[in-house]
Amino acid sequence: MPTSRSGSRVPDDGQHRAHADEAAALGLPTLAVALARVEDGIAVVDAGGRFVYANPAACRMLGRSLDRLHGRELLGMLEAVGQTTLPGSFPWDPADAPAPFLCGVGGVGGGGGVGAAGHEVTCSVFATDIDGASHWVAVLRDLGGGRAMKRTAVALAQTTAQLVGAGTVDEILRGIARHAVESTTATACGIVVVGEDHKLAAAGGFGFPDRARSMGAWTASSVTLDEMPGGAQVLTGRSVYMPDARSAMGAAPATKAFAATMDSLDWQGSYYAPLSWEGEVFGVFGVHLPSGAASPNADVCAFYDILANQVSVAVTNARLAASLERTRLARELHDSISQALFSMTMHARAAQLAMTKAELDATGPLGRSVAQLAELTRGTLAEMRALIFELRPGALAEEGLVSALRKQGAALTAREQVPITVVGPERRLDLGAGVEEHLYRIALEALNNVVKHARAEQVAVHVTVEGGALRIVVSDDGAGFEPDAEHSGSMGLSTMAERARAVGAQFIVTSERGNGTVVTVTLPHSPRDRTEEGTDHAH
Ligand SMILES: Nc1ncnc2c1ncn2[C@@H]1O[C@H](COP(=O)(O)OP(=O)(O)OP(=O)(O)O)[C@@H](O)[C@H]1O
Ligand SMILES: [Mg+2]
Repeated sequence: MPTSRSGSRVPDDGQHRAHADEAAALGLPTLAVALARVEDGIAVVDAGGRFVYANPAACRMLGRSLDRLHGRELLGMLEAVGQTTLPGSFPWDPADAPAPFLCGVGGVGGGGGVGAAGHEVTCSVFATDIDGASHWVAVLRDLGGGRAMKRTAVALAQTTAQLVGAGTVDEILRGIARHAVESTTATACGIVVVGEDHKLAAAGGFGFPDRARSMGAWTASSVTLDEMPGGAQVLTGRSVYMPDARSAMGAAPATKAFAATMDSLDWQGSYYAPLSWEGEVFGVFGVHLPSGAASPNADVCAFYDILANQVSVAVTNARLAASLERTRLARELHDSISQALFSMTMHARAAQLAMTKAELDATGPLGRSVAQLAELTRGTLAEMRALIFELRPGALAEEGLVSALRKQGAALTAREQVPITVVGPERRLDLGAGVEEHLYRIALEALNNVVKHARAEQVAVHVTVEGGALRIVVSDDGAGFEPDAEHSGSMGLSTMAERARAVGAQFIVTSERGNGTVVTVTLPHSPRDRTEEGTDHAH
């Protein structure tokens, strides 16, 4: 039986001859031998779509001997795979032949999953006349047997080409997601990555009924990776298959809104593969499978994992490129403009000294101009230093919170003519990178609010480590306001509160009209730091 043979691709002589005879009988003598030997399945069906011939490869794929195929309907032996639909029933109009389509044959599991014995094939059909009667030839090309390898090779080739090409990251990720959907039974594939705020944001996807809405739902829900169903396992660097992800995602508060955007999608299970780089998990490659689909087998899982790796590479590349560009800009600004500004401050100072020496009036027009010039260059230099600091990735981690706030304070002082003092421990505080970033952004927004709204004469930032707590106090003697009132349309205060919550800090704003404002952030700080940190005053 050609059907149950494994390993041998060419039938033995007896079978070979039988197939050749049948082909010859159909008036295809010159093709008979070739047809019997090709690896593609080739079947001939009559105008009603019933088998009149199948070569050994087709018999093998369809799981039936030639005589058991005779008279059966071709369409009855093909099954839809994933999103593909099969052509409508016979008779077909030769002028309107169906385009090649993907289908399953020979033991496809119910609902579109290809079972262990099944094959995924592409089926191409064309009309032909045999002995004056219209027939159809169907060519079945097996994607099985080394299917995973083929898919992998194709995926790698395609995505590598995309990476090399000029596509934007969004296009590349969409291309990879599309690949996952089109090569397997999946109905949709989405990519989410963790942003600077530690929240998940959609970075690409394919197959969603409303892609923009699905992507937007992630940002709107402010979800962290561990809050999403399956996220805890993904965080450990392992992929997870959830047979009923639809219910799990629909029930979890964090992902409910996202799940709702997929209401009209045929979706039940999901496969989540981690996106990671150097051991750090920074996102999820999520493949959504239709209801009734068998769980993805090892080949398919490996395929999804490879695509997830490709996504990891693409995202990391983009991040590196952005960070290299920022580093380059920071260096350029430091080496060129910033140095030039520094010598300008020196020249201005020298001019002032020369004027004094020559006993010229420092309060006259020339003196005032030189003084203004000196002031302006000092201010611009301070701004430039703050800008370089913001541009340089890792600057905060290197220089620490207090130094960073001092740079920003100096820049704001120069720009806004408000004296800002920054007082705090000179030594680096032992804070996690994420925590330090949040605290820095809170203090910076407090300072920005002062210069925007307070019309203050004095502004102070105090950073202290005392009594098991790290405290940042930003105080001004300005106009004050009512912190409890609705501030519609403004984000600053609520973002500060949110950042504080994210790091487990207490956030208090006290203010009164005409009596200034005090913003206090208090974070429990480990005893080790408490004993080490002294409070040095500076500036
Ligand atoms: N230090 C301050 N002194 C006086 N008023 C302040 C101060 N800080 C905040 N406010 C008032 O509170 C309001 C809300 O501040 P918030 O930072 O949320 O918004 P914003 O600064 O107006 O806009 P943005 O969203 O750009 O931050 C401000 O519009 C301002 O009226
Ligand atoms: Mg603000």
